[in-house]
Amino acid sequence: PAAGVTRPHESARSQVAGAATYIDDIPEVRGTLHAAPILSNVAHGKLLGVDTSAARAMPGVVDVVLSQDIPGDPMLAAFAGDEPVFAIDTVQHIGQVIGVVVARTAMQARRAARKVKLNIEALPAILTVQQALEAKSFVLPPVHVRRGNAAAAMKTAQHTLSGTLEVGGQEHFYLEGQIAYVLPQEQNQWVVYSSTQHPGEVQHWVSHALGLDNNAVRVECRRMGGGFGGKETQAGHLAVWSAVAANKVKQAVKLRLDRDDDFMVTGKRHPFAYEYTAGFDDTGRLTALQLMMAANCGFSADLSGPVADRAIFHSDNAYYLQDVDIASYRCKTNTQSHTAFRGFGGPQGVILIETIMGDIARHLKMDPLDVRIRNLYSDEVLSTSTSSVRTGAEAVRAEPVEALRRDTTHYGMKVEDNILAPLLSKLELSAQYRRRVEAISAWNSKSPVLKRGIAITPVKFGISFTATLFNQAGALVHVYTDGSVQVNHGGTEMGQGLHTKVAQIVADELGISFTRVLATASDTSKIPNASATAASAGTDLNGRAAQFAARHVRDNLAAFVCGLDGCGAGAIQFQNGQVLSPKTTRSFEEVVGMAYANRIQLWSDGFYRTPKIHYDKATLTGRPFYYFAYGASCSEVVIDTLTGESRVLKVDILHDVGRSINPGLDIGQIEGGFVQGMGWLTTEQLVWNDKGYLSTHAPSTYKIPTAGDVPAHFKVDLWPEPNREDNVFGSKAVGEPPFMLAISVFEALKDAVARARGDGAAVRLIAPATAEHVLAALTA
Ligand code: MTE
Ligand code: MOS
Repeated sequence: PAAGVTRPHESARSQVAGAATYIDDIPEVRGTLHAAPILSNVAHGKLLGVDTSAARAMPGVVDVVLSQDIPGDPMLAAFAGDEPVFAIDTVQHIGQVIGVVVARTAMQARRAARKVKLNIEALPAILTVQQALEAKSFVLPPVHVRRGNAAAAMKTAQHTLSGTLEVGGQEHFYLEGQIAYVLPQEQNQWVVYSSTQHPGEVQHWVSHALGLDNNAVRVECRRMGGGFGGKETQAGHLAVWSAVAANKVKQAVKLRLDRDDDFMVTGKRHPFAYEYTAGFDDTGRLTALQLMMAANCGFSADLSGPVADRAIFHSDNAYYLQDVDIASYRCKTNTQSHTAFRGFGGPQGVILIETIMGDIARHLKMDPLDVRIRNLYSDEVLSTSTSSVRTGAEAVRAEPVEALRRDTTHYGMKVEDNILAPLLSKLELSAQYRRRVEAISAWNSKSPVLKRGIAITPVKFGISFTATLFNQAGALVHVYTDGSVQVNHGGTEMGQGLHTKVAQIVADELGISFTRVLATASDTSKIPNASATAASAGTDLNGRAAQFAARHVRDNLAAFVCGLDGCGAGAIQFQNGQVLSPKTTRSFEEVVGMAYANRIQLWSDGFYRTPKIHYDKATLTGRPFYYFAYGASCSEVVIDTLTGESRVLKVDILHDVGRSINPGLDIGQIEGGFVQGMGWLTTEQLVWNDKGYLSTHAPSTYKIPTAGDVPAHFKVDLWPEPNREDNVFGSKAVGEPPFMLAISVFEALKDAVARARGDGAAVRLIAPATAEHVLAALTA
């Protein structure tokens, strides 16, 4: 079979050989010009004038393109309508794009862009969430989610703990930076090459800015050199800037941001700040939670609404929250507009509840894993007093009432596929957690400076776009007369292996070899209105659509063979490159050739929409997710108590991908997601200065993890059970969930700090746990 086995990524060889084509490798058409952005150097101000004369005099400069050159709407077609294509009369962050300079070469354009003189009258800027909260500066209104009565439950709680937490953002640091290449009006259709997770939205935005119909723009993306959410919306900006420029100069225009500009212009993971009070009992069970979370959204809404919603949806992580009150603020600040990033707000929800679990354990002097297990979702029936209040049990005693169990999320979704308890206990045993806790105590007692810590944290991550409408997908499967197959679908390839998995699914559906199936570039002229490849749902959606498309072709072939052999269509089998009927065995190629000669359709579309999901946007209740993906990780770390430096020593992961379509790719996603999460929580620090200038805007100052940071012991095991929901091949989505496994590193660092201090005090560690922040936690 083609699926269920490890196969190399379809681009692995060409990527390693440097032969894979990215946008900047596409041969340029004659006369192609290059654009570079003109950036605001003030965080907030009135844009009084733009003097382009010096820039225009620079070598190679062809034109300067500003807001007034936009033929269509000067506002981007982003859903909130709050973002101009180019700054109009105010600037809202340092790095906001005011226009572009177009020149013969990219370097000429970049040099000239720096010569544009901006006349900006500075206004007071809001640079932190605290300032935004005080000023009630929001990109979208606050959202509250409540269940039970948290205030009352807090009053009767045996223990309460309050705290604050700050968690930093994260630069996507895709290896291929943001880029777009626009060819105007080729046969009445503009062609846009964009490194984007969402070609359909790029098409929509470009046509909107140009004042054209959607059908006048075709967007293509063969692959991205990484997206990680950073190219979900924000690739569209570059495409629009290039298109507006191309429209003005009537030439093809390419815009490739250099790394520093990419940092300055594009949004990042949302930094979050929290205030919380947790009530719990002597056994470590959480009984009440009051939580305020504030997301730093930057200057516009972008995806901040759904990101902050997902943070709310994941502030339970794996735990039942009985009486809970969550307030979520979407703060507007004068910084880059923060956007999707692997986990999409989920990590910012999960880290808070994991912080609380650690706090409770240290407060009660319990093992943190025991506190976590105590709070897991389960089918345990809620205490009668609580359930009678909730159901009015006396009144309805005659009717059989379903018992209220600790299995329903704070947004009203029942956790039906819960494997948390067995998964945690399996990891606890395989990682030898209890033995190592003892060993670490012994080691630390002999080590005056270096101190170790360990933690196990679980992950439960909801799969589906919370915006239900995005959970649809289409695909086209073409069988050519030689029996080779091309599949095209609405998803995009960013390194995650989507094309490989989809080709495996199609090959299996047709019973042919994987090598006979080719997945081709994402293209809005093949699959229209496709959703972003995001929410980890790429394979779930597009894989199923492609499977259906292949099934239609297979059904055509089966009906044809039945006619020849005089049997029922159900009797035809497709396997190992052969088509078997009760009477004959023919090769797939032979059947295809005969079918073609008999005018049988050899290609088809397929369409899929996720079943069962629904959700009320106003109250944030319902079933936003088709299923949950689960995992757990055990991390052991060491800190240097004199310098604050740390290392991750050992990592054991047990993760649930359902029935894996491609174990090699899935383990790669788990490893990559984990290490990216480690970077978020340890070394990747974004520093905006008091003027709002991002001073960490290059790898010299912004530290992503490298090969040397990967723990020497890094073991990944897959949970051996298929998805309990009917999902393609029995698989589960894998792209984002493993990112949150890295929270065990953060909790292990706090464990090390607590052990080093030995004073039983609460540990306050700011994320990322840089050396400075670890030192501060050791002494605070
Ligand atoms: N893996 C690689 N190599 N590169 C990426 O850009 N993006 C992640 C994840 N894994 C990413 C990646 C993100 S943010 C998402 S949502 C998923 O892949 C998207 O792809 P999928 O839905 O096909 O899993
Ligand atoms: Mo991923 S953050 O959903 O692109």
